[in-house]
Amino acid sequence: MNPAALILTCLVLAHGQHTDAFANPRSPLFGHGHGVCPPSSRENMPSTCSYTSPSTPTSSTSIPRASSSSSTPASPAPRKGFLGLLDKVNPLKFREFGVGNELKDGIAAFYDESTGIWEEVWGDHLHHGYYYTGKEKDHQKAQLDMIEESLRFSGIGVAEESEIKRVVDVGCGIGGSSRYLARKFGAQVRGITLSPFQCRRAQALTHKSGLEDSAKFEVADALAMPFSEQSFDLVWSMESGEHMPDKRRFLKELVRVAAPGGRVIIVTWCHRNLKPGERLTRFERGLLKLINSIYFLPPWVSMDAYVALAQEEGLTEVKTADWTRQVKPFWPAVLRSCLNLKSIKVLLTSSTVRRGALAILYMMLGYSTGLIRFGVITGRKPK
Ligand SMILES: C[S@@+](CC[C@H](N)C(=O)[O-])C[C@H]1O[C@@H](n2cnc3c(N)ncnc32)[C@H](O)[C@@H]1O
Repeated sequence: MNPAALILTCLVLAHGQHTDAFANPRSPLFGHGHGVCPPSSRENMPSTCSYTSPSTPTSSTSIPRASSSSSTPASPAPRKGFLGLLDKVNPLKFREFGVGNELKDGIAAFYDESTGIWEEVWGDHLHHGYYYTGKEKDHQKAQLDMIEESLRFSGIGVAEESEIKRVVDVGCGIGGSSRYLARKFGAQVRGITLSPFQCRRAQALTHKSGLEDSAKFEVADALAMPFSEQSFDLVWSMESGEHMPDKRRFLKELVRVAAPGGRVIIVTWCHRNLKPGERLTRFERGLLKLINSIYFLPPWVSMDAYVALAQEEGLTEVKTADWTRQVKPFWPAVLRSCLNLKSIKVLLTSSTVRRGALAILYMMLGYSTGLIRFGVITGRKPK
C-alpha cells in the first residue's frame, strides 16, 4: 500500500471508532423537532437575503428553538493512545455534526465561501451530472440532463408540464434549477438556501436572465419553510437532502408544502441499503465521518430509509432508483477541474476549498467501494 493510501485508511478507521447515529434507534435522523437557523447566523444578512421565518406555526410537530448549547452535542472526550495521536496530528480538524445550529451555520459558511469558485468553474448548477454512456465530455449538459431525467423519472412528461405552475426549489444553491424549471414550465418558483451569498447570487443571476418576476429567493430553513401548506405543484430538492439532520422532519415539510396531487422529487446522496440488523462497517462509518466533517453533513441514510419515510409521510406512487452508475464520471471531472488555474489560486488561499478538494477523493473512494449511492426518490401527495 502506498503511504498516502495508508494514511487515508488510518484516518478513516480512526473515525470509524466514534459513536454512530445509526446504532441508535432514537437517532434524531428519524425524529422530530430540531433547531432552526440561529439568530447569530442571521444577524449580518443583507435585507434582501435575510432569514425568513416560517409562516405556518407547527404546533405539535413544531421545531423548538433550541439554544446552541442544548442542541449541539458536546464534544467527545479526547481519545488516548494511537487514536488520540491521530486526532492531534490530523490537519483537517474533523467534526461530527448533530442536529444543532452549528450544522446550519457551518453549511451557510461553507457555501458562502466555496460557491464563488464553483460557479466560476462549473456554472450555476451545484449538482452531479447524469451520464448516459459515461463518455460524455460536456459536464454542464450532463447537469441539465440530471434535471430532465429527474423530472422524467417522477412521471412529468410533456402532457404533465401544464400542471406545474408553482415550484419550490428546496436548497436552491444559486438558482440553477429554479431558473431552468421557471423557463421550462412557465412556473412561479421560490428558492430557499441557508447561504446568504448563494441567495444574492441567485437573485443577481435571475435578474440578469430576465426571470426576476418568475423566480424569487430567500434564506430559509428547509426544516421550517416559510410557505403555507399545499402551495406547490412541484417540490424539488436537488442534492440538499444530505444536509438535513432530521430526515423525517424534512419529508414532513416537503409533503406539507406540496399541493394535493403535487409531486415531490428528492435527488440525494445515500449510503448503501442495509440488510435487517446489518450496520455499516467501521471503515464505512469512518469514511462518511470524514466526508461529513468537510461538507457539513449529518449522518447519512439509505434509499430504503427515504422510501419508508416518504410512504410514512403519506406520499403515494413512491418510486426510487439508484443512479450511481449514471453519475460515475462526475467526481473525476470535478477533480480535474481543480487543476484549472483559477481553482489553484483559490485552493492556495481558502482552507474550506482545500478541504472540499480533499473530500473529492473521499467521495470517489465511497463510490468505488459501493458505500455511497446516488439516489432519486419521488412520490405524489394524494389529491
Ligand atoms: C449541493 S447544494 C445544491 C444546490 C442546488 N440544489 C443545485 O443543484 O444547484 C446544497 C444546497 O442545500 C442548501 N441547504 C442545506 N441545508 C439546508 C437547509 N436546512 N435549508 C435550506 N437549504 C439548505 C444549501 O444552502 C445549498 O444551497
